[in-house]
Amino acid sequence: MDAYSWLRPLFFRLPAETAHEYVTAGLRAVQSVGAARRALSTRYTYRHPALEVECFDTTFDNPVGVAAGFDKNARVFPALDALGFGFVEVGTVTPEPQAGNPRPRLFRLPKDRALVNRMGFNGDGVDRVRDRLETNREAGGPIGVNVGKMNDSDADEAIEDYLRVFEELSPYGEYFVVNVSCPNTPDEFDEDDPDHLRTIFETLQAANEDDAPLLVKIGPDSPTDSLYELVDIVEAYDLDGIVATNTTTSREGLRSTTDEWGGLSGKPLESRSTGVIKTIAGYTDLPIVGVGGVDSAESAYQKIRAGASLVQLYTGFVYNGPSTAREINRGLVERLHEDGFDTVSEAVGADLD
Ligand SMILES: Cc1cc2nc3c(=O)[nH]c(=O)nc-3n(C[C@H](O)[C@H](O)[C@H](O)COP(=O)(O)O)c2cc1C
Repeated sequence: MDAYSWLRPLFFRLPAETAHEYVTAGLRAVQSVGAARRALSTRYTYRHPALEVECFDTTFDNPVGVAAGFDKNARVFPALDALGFGFVEVGTVTPEPQAGNPRPRLFRLPKDRALVNRMGFNGDGVDRVRDRLETNREAGGPIGVNVGKMNDSDADEAIEDYLRVFEELSPYGEYFVVNVSCPNTPDEFDEDDPDHLRTIFETLQAANEDDAPLLVKIGPDSPTDSLYELVDIVEAYDLDGIVATNTTTSREGLRSTTDEWGGLSGKPLESRSTGVIKTIAGYTDLPIVGVGGVDSAESAYQKIRAGASLVQLYTGFVYNGPSTAREINRGLVERLHEDGFDTVSEAVGADLD
């Protein structure tokens, strides 16, 4: 029996954010001892040549990453690497420390294998994140950096915010994500307004001297026309990919009742985000990082077949625990084999007409 099947009920008795803090503390303790980290890696890492993915000028050992929000402050990415994840997206990182919304702000919906969060970009700020990345860089695998802004910034200040975080962290990431899709921040302006996006992308690309891969993270709730418009802008400014998707404000199809406002993640988001991936993949050849409701080999495989080159998860990890990446990767290899694919990359977009 996996240890998590008895640990999870204990964690689930705690408020969700407190449980997350315990988990983070545990992961930090483990990663600080080399032998413990290696033991974790031996137990939880599943390697297979079919899982290797070349993307964003980087070789990923496997396509299953940890989504933004889990390791906001770059504290535990080496432990997540030891748990067999192919990459970790740290952040969202803001230029200054920020408290986020008042607690409680993270809620479990176990009947739906979902979470609702309205964290609101709480974080330690870019300087501390940079120090941690600098100290531990060699210990982990590929890193994505999710770049954000302060909650009280207006549209012009927001551009300065993104630029500062990007410039300070550009030596430390394999790719960078402009996050314009958080449903939980009190924006004074329309974050994904096309003109605003153009200015952000233009500013960041002008500062992007080393040609670091730059992506944008989008929400799941936009109509198809807006998705196409966004992809046109992304291509016009030579961005390198799209992370799809963030959480949804919809509460459609939930079994639980909840009045909590915020972004919904996990199983109820799965088909919505896979639909967005398919729509985008049918329209562009840009690489897509698929996220939303991935918690099993089957759900990861569906996103890959829909057009995702890499996948990520957050909520599935909360519900399934430390063996999540290993089980998904093992199952992916089986599915690839059954369908006659030699590598993950061969299966990308297999469901597109
Ligand atoms: C508690 C929590 C915090 C999150 N924080 C961020 C964040 O800071 N930046 C971001 O881009 N996405 C954030 N997300 C969204 C996730 O990265 C992901 O897009 C979303 O949860 C869907 O994936 P999942 O169903 O696997 O959880 C957060 C999600 C959760 C549950």
